[in-house]
Amino acid sequence: MPEPENRLAARGLTVGYDRRTVIEDLDLDIPDGSITVIVGPNGCGKSTLLHTLARVLKPRSGSVLLDGEDIARLPSKEVARRLGLLTQQPVTPDAITVGDLVSRGRHPHRRLLRGWSAEDEEAVNRALAATDTEDLADRAVDELSGGQRQRVWLAMLLAQDTPIMLLDEPTTFLDIAHQIDMLDLCATLHRDRTRTLVMVLHDLNHACRYATHLIALKDGAVVAQGPPGEIVTPALIEDVFGLPCQVIPDPVTATPLIVPLSRSHDTTPTA
Ligand SMILES: Nc1ncnc2c1ncn2[C@@H]1O[C@H](COP(=O)(O)OP(=O)(O)OP(=O)(O)O)[C@@H](O)[C@H]1O
Ligand SMILES: [Mg+2]
Repeated sequence: MPEPENRLAARGLTVGYDRRTVIEDLDLDIPDGSITVIVGPNGCGKSTLLHTLARVLKPRSGSVLLDGEDIARLPSKEVARRLGLLTQQPVTPDAITVGDLVSRGRHPHRRLLRGWSAEDEEAVNRALAATDTEDLADRAVDELSGGQRQRVWLAMLLAQDTPIMLLDEPTTFLDIAHQIDMLDLCATLHRDRTRTLVMVLHDLNHACRYATHLIALKDGAVVAQGPPGEIVTPALIEDVFGLPCQVIPDPVTATPLIVPLSRSHDTTPTA
């Protein structure tokens, strides 16, 4: 495997928990400036992969390379300035307000002996506005609904303002309008190609609409990767999810639209 050309890559990555190996000898390149979306069935290793890329999990062997350096050897604050992670189930600190939580996103940017700067203030306000959470700023995070909380955590990630952002199922708790707002926001963040986003999504049609680079993961291994329009076929979906389907052009975006067939009923059109 050649030296990575991209800012974030993995070489020979093996990750597991106790005796269970989830990912084995994986090489991966996240294209710079992409919206990379990882899809795959429950338990296939998506979160494990994302956590390892973010240095939350330590691989058994192999390495994650950030700007060509082994991420394990970089100081935490340095990593946090370049790469931010939104986990699938973030743990909310007790009795913290939305404003305080989002402000924590600025921590990696703070310098010793320097107070809260105008730049910090602006980043937090921008993050609250972008996620439609300004009205929640004084509320306690643990009193919020699941969807509100998810937007607040996203705001914290935005306040961190890193060139690489990793998001594990950022739309799970959101209603359909907020799901699209969230994905549109990601697309906006990516518009000038200075940011790289890596997202885990379960909605394959959203994945196909928003990904510039799609990675299909099964049993901890990459089955296919590339632009959705080039790799998504009924055979791939059947292989990865064991689900028969049709793939038709999305009427709005012309990206692949996956129409599942039932596994147990005859869904042959009657008309
Ligand atoms: N903390 C842990 N300790 C032990 N095993 C774990 C742990 N976290 C995950 N696993 C196991 O590792 C495997 C991969 O889990 P992972 O959370 O990466 O899956 P996933 O693809 O993100 O699934 P989902 O779509 O349900 O979020 C699963 O078999 C899971 O049971
Ligand atoms: Mg997961």
